[in-house]
Amino acid sequence: MPDGILRSNLELDDAAMRRMGHRVADLVVDHLASLRDEPAQQSLSRHDTESLISGPASEDGCDFDDLMSFLRERVFPYHAREPHPHFMGYIPSSPTFPAVLGDWMAAGYNFFAGVWTVASGPNQIELTVLDWFRAWLGMPQGTSGLLTSGGSTATLTAVVAARHAADASAEKSARLTLYTSEQAHSSVQRAAWIAGIPRGNVRSIATDDRYRMREDALRRAIADDRAAGFTPFLVVASAGTTNTGAVDPLHAIADLCAAEQLWMHVDAAYAGFAALTRQGATALDGLGRADSVTLDPHKWLFVPFECGCLLARDPRTLEEAFSVHPEYLTDVRARDQDVNFADYGEQLTRSSHALKIWLSVQYFGVSEIREAIARGIHRAEYAERLFAANHDFEILSPAQFGVVCFRARPADLDAPALDALNDRINARVNATGRFLISSTKLRGRFSLRLCTHVHRMTDADIDEVYEAIVEALRVEASPPNH
Ligand SMILES: Cc1ncc(COP(=O)(O)O)c(C=O)c1O
Repeated sequence: MPDGILRSNLELDDAAMRRMGHRVADLVVDHLASLRDEPAQQSLSRHDTESLISGPASEDGCDFDDLMSFLRERVFPYHAREPHPHFMGYIPSSPTFPAVLGDWMAAGYNFFAGVWTVASGPNQIELTVLDWFRAWLGMPQGTSGLLTSGGSTATLTAVVAARHAADASAEKSARLTLYTSEQAHSSVQRAAWIAGIPRGNVRSIATDDRYRMREDALRRAIADDRAAGFTPFLVVASAGTTNTGAVDPLHAIADLCAAEQLWMHVDAAYAGFAALTRQGATALDGLGRADSVTLDPHKWLFVPFECGCLLARDPRTLEEAFSVHPEYLTDVRARDQDVNFADYGEQLTRSSHALKIWLSVQYFGVSEIREAIARGIHRAEYAERLFAANHDFEILSPAQFGVVCFRARPADLDAPALDALNDRINARVNATGRFLISSTKLRGRFSLRLCTHVHRMTDADIDEVYEAIVEALRVEASPPNH
């Protein structure tokens, strides 16, 4: 029989719970304290994990320590360590420890944050956090929304609300058109599909030489669609694209949306939090004019997965699109100023994502978070300087919001050979396990890409990855040894 059983049911005595909790705390703290000594990534094939991990459920239970050993030895080693100082790919998540504990408490109390009366304390924390975000982005009083599982869900929620606000009849909805740039995150396209916008009605607008949506192309696409009998309803601008950190011309798009009476949504999933810094606030000027904004606290606000956010200038638009009142929930209908977050989005049962944000921000203070974001911005600029100074490399997109794109470009290689060379460099650097970097394509060119958001990262880590990439180029560009 498993240890610590109090009665013949699922409840444990408090000594057993404390012991188990301490074991978990020790495990996580050991992991975080030794992150730098661990590889940045480690993976096994499905075949290998199958034999190492799979098996039938235990019929009679197991010893907790044995289970912990199993997880520590067989499961946890095989993952990419997002909070690692050498995790420089994609858009990483490096949570603070208080944020991790916030999630633990949300699970421990198991708050049901879908309706007000069932968790009014935690729900007030969510409203408080949403109001911080509103102020940080310069959105007007009254702006609010909800925390979501991630940025994709936030954008989906916005697209559904915008579609509802367009008040399309079933017949007309086949004519609704949505506009976003060719550099927008794929979640925009998917949100449109899920929301029932015909796939052919998602317009991909061309970008300029800095990967920003071209306002003239947007204007023309809208005019062409109106002339052809379509109903434009939504523009999704990007403020910090995933590829390069580009920010679309927010003021120009806001003016156009106002003139055309279109909903303006801005995907500021990670870069939105850079509004806390002076540099970021300047680059994001105009963001506050959006009708709605996607943010991802699990990216650059240093909280663990999962945590996205949708802010809406008029939260009633969310309620109009999503609220439904079945008779079995009459007892918990929102009254007076109460907010039922279930009325603002797709989820009824939802945990309190707000606690981890609140705990982390209050513990460190906004100035410390601001500094951590600013350091991430500067590290990418430092990486850009290193590669720009090396004649064998070329910057494909300068550092923006902690993202920099570049490629090796030794003389005398044609385009396909350059792509192949950089692909091999990427693979070589990743194969060591010491770093995780990721690639992308910019105007058809294979690009290496660094994202320098992880709060533990220092300039010395940038030096190390620079040396690893230069060494990979040296090996890959040398003629094979026979
Ligand atoms: C700009 C941008 N928008 C949206 C998303 C999707 O967010 P999530 O993965 O939290 O759903 C990402 C993810 O990297 C992103 O970079």
